Amino acid sequence: MVKTWFITGTSTGLGRLLTERLLARGDRVVATLRKPGALDGLLAQHGDSLQVLTLDVTDTGAMRIAVADAFARMGRIDVVVSNAGYGLFGAAEEASDAQIERQIATNLVGSIQFIRTVLPHLRAQGGGRIVQVSSEGGQIAYPNFSLYHATKWGIEGFVESVAKEVAPFGIDFLIVEPGPTCTNFAEGMDRAPPMPCYEDTPAGEVRRAIASGAFAIKGDAARTVDAMIVAADAKAAPLRLALGSTAYASISQALAERLRQLEAQKAVTLSADREV
Ligand SMILES: NC(=O)c1ccc[n+]([C@@H]2O[C@H](COP(=O)([O-])OP(=O)(O)OC[C@H]3O[C@@H](n4cnc5c(N)ncnc54)[C@H](OP(=O)(O)O)[C@@H]3O)[C@@H](O)[C@H]2O)c1
Repeated sequence: MVKTWFITGTSTGLGRLLTERLLARGDRVVATLRKPGALDGLLAQHGDSLQVLTLDVTDTGAMRIAVADAFARMGRIDVVVSNAGYGLFGAAEEASDAQIERQIATNLVGSIQFIRTVLPHLRAQGGGRIVQVSSEGGQIAYPNFSLYHATKWGIEGFVESVAKEVAPFGIDFLIVEPGPTCTNFAEGMDRAPPMPCYEDTPAGEVRRAIASGAFAIKGDAARTVDAMIVAADAKAAPLRLALGSTAYASISQALAERLRQLEAQKAVTLSADREV
């Protein structure tokens, strides 16, 4: 069955590959991006099944218009993908206020407003699926990515709550959590100017590992996108899907450690209840 998709952030990386893969198998895609012209080649090839709209996800007003327009033109949209995002790199006190605001406005508020914008349309059509591209960094944390983690942990909490609100309307969610993956992500990163005092700290180590190429990027973008499509096609999608061996190892280790810490504090934790 031909499906219709709406995807944000399709000029490069996972969003673009996803658009290409879906068109190649015959699906219809509304692809949104900030750079008009970036998908001209695909438009020439798949003009009938591809609609390209300009959208910066920090512009909520424009987003509402683009989404309403897409639902009106397509009739039904089966899967919406909240993919647009980038990384802010640097220790928390190295980042400027403006860098922090843009990171949160794009990855967190942009994703929240996108989901809020599509919900009434999905309810009106009797249901649908929302794919939120998060990251292994939505469940674990590396030094130097604190603001990025704040956005990915934040969107995962938002989605987990909203999923419970809208399940009765036939709307479900798939949170995708790739590990480091070969896309344009490194080039698109916003880098805070380093402070010398962090040179000999874990933040400095991560900075050096990334600069020297020692930080392994094991994720294959095409395989990541293929796994996303399989999960998005499934009758019942998992709420969370980690992708890649790095994500699997880091998330399983972090969850085990969190459970260990919870159990280690159990007596203190339970002592906080009211006496009855
Ligand atoms: N690659 C990884 O290692 C990795 C791992 C885990 C999660 N992720 C997540 O995967 C998603 C896609 O990233 P990617 O790896 O494919 O990197 P990418 O190649 O840099 O793609 C990011 C896309 O997001 C778009 N974007 C950024 N800010 C935007 C805004 N304000 N409005 C609209 N579009 C915007 C970019 O558009 P422009 O071309 O206009 O900048 C680009 O199309 C992101 O949410 C990222 O956090 C990536």
